Amino acid sequence: MTRRTGMETDPKAGEAAAEHRLWGGRFVEGMEAAAAELNRSLPVDYRLWPQDVRASKAWVKALARAGVLQPEEEAQLCDGLECVAQRLADGAGVGAPDEDVHTLVERLLYQEVGELAGKLNTGRSRNDQVATDLRLWGLEASDAVERELVGLGRALLGQAKRGLDLYLPGYTHGQRAQPVRWGYVLLAHAWPLTRDRARLADAARRMAELPLGSGALAGSSVTVDRDFLAGTLGFDRPASNALDVTGDRDFAAELLFALALLATHMSRLAGELLTYASSEYGFIRLADGYCTGSSLLPHKRNPDVFELARAKSARVLSDLAGLLSLLKALPAGYSKDLQEDKAFLFDAVDTMLLTLPAVRGAVETLEPVPERMAAALDRDLLATDLAEGLAAAGVPFREAHGLVGRLVKLAETRGLHLGDVPPDEAGAIHPLLPSLVASLDSWEGSIERRDSAGGSSGASVAAQILRLEGEFQMPS
Ligand code: ARG
Repeated sequence: MTRRTGMETDPKAGEAAAEHRLWGGRFVEGMEAAAAELNRSLPVDYRLWPQDVRASKAWVKALARAGVLQPEEEAQLCDGLECVAQRLADGAGVGAPDEDVHTLVERLLYQEVGELAGKLNTGRSRNDQVATDLRLWGLEASDAVERELVGLGRALLGQAKRGLDLYLPGYTHGQRAQPVRWGYVLLAHAWPLTRDRARLADAARRMAELPLGSGALAGSSVTVDRDFLAGTLGFDRPASNALDVTGDRDFAAELLFALALLATHMSRLAGELLTYASSEYGFIRLADGYCTGSSLLPHKRNPDVFELARAKSARVLSDLAGLLSLLKALPAGYSKDLQEDKAFLFDAVDTMLLTLPAVRGAVETLEPVPERMAAALDRDLLATDLAEGLAAAGVPFREAHGLVGRLVKLAETRGLHLGDVPPDEAGAIHPLLPSLVASLDSWEGSIERRDSAGGSSGASVAAQILRLEGEFQMPS
């Protein structure tokens, strides 16, 4: 068996490819060029070759166990597939003219082992083959995304730890609401990632059902041991119904949904950090390495990484919408529509694997600007503390809320901060208010008073960090 370097170096290879088809016996005329081009999926599914070779080797072993292949044939086919893998790794498939990745692998196998290659497809169809390849690819892709997700989670944790004692306004409706810790705000973006990780794992559980051995739609003509196949390929179990699994792309949709929601979370993080990095807020400063300049304005430092992260989520969301539209109303079993599934899934995974590392780096290297955070804290943010003080003294909270509202209004009319309203005027609203106003302490005091689990108090944030350290362990 000779190892070849690539079909592009072999002038006969193009001709051979044009002749190599997995079908055609019943056809009199060849395919029209336009139809063949439309039908051709190699440019998209080419990247499935490692999975296709792996699944083919497992199939060879299963055929041998079923007595369809002799031990020498099994060895020859496995060696041949190994050579095919080497050649493909060396670029043998670049610019190849084949219909799809399965045809490409089989053609190269013919070149390696001759007519014996024709036995590989015994009892197998491209329908169970492509479903198997794509699940194998999806499981690997999910692992790769998980690693990047954990990387981003750890970056947020690192910043959160550094930002434990930095105080800034917490916002609702885009309005300053109550003082919080900077670390706490970052943790609010870390928790969604733990749910994303759990969703990826959940999707992977269902993805780990094996289609191979299903034939085209009704099961295989060879009684292969599908449990053996599943074990060999790292699946948890064989799928239960051949017609279902050859047309089932739920696994791709589930992975895409997990990615779309992860992308949405990433866009929310990016959007919020863009606000904080803006000239007007200036709460954080991004590292030079994660900014770009303007071709016209020499002073500009643009936060492109977060803007692109916000934008890339649109792309992943549309990939999900595209796949669901593709699947809608398809009958059970394989339809050629399903050939279009890959572009959506590949694009979403590529987009996330491109974006997550950049966002992680930008988060890791951003610097908080404590003075700007502190400058945004005005004493009106302590209005709730006053109302709670009155409530602690027995005033029903609803009434306390109204009384402090009057104090806020008075301060506003007089152009004063809440704490600067003269005691006699505050006392006219409620006799306890002057002493409460005088007792308003530091931002930290206000934050620590809200010491319920899950809040922004030091103890709660420390407990959350501890739990998140556990959640963001790198997968082994
Ligand atoms: N290239 C095809 C796909 O990606 C492979 C399956 C083709 N099956 C068939 N019956 N023509 O879906």
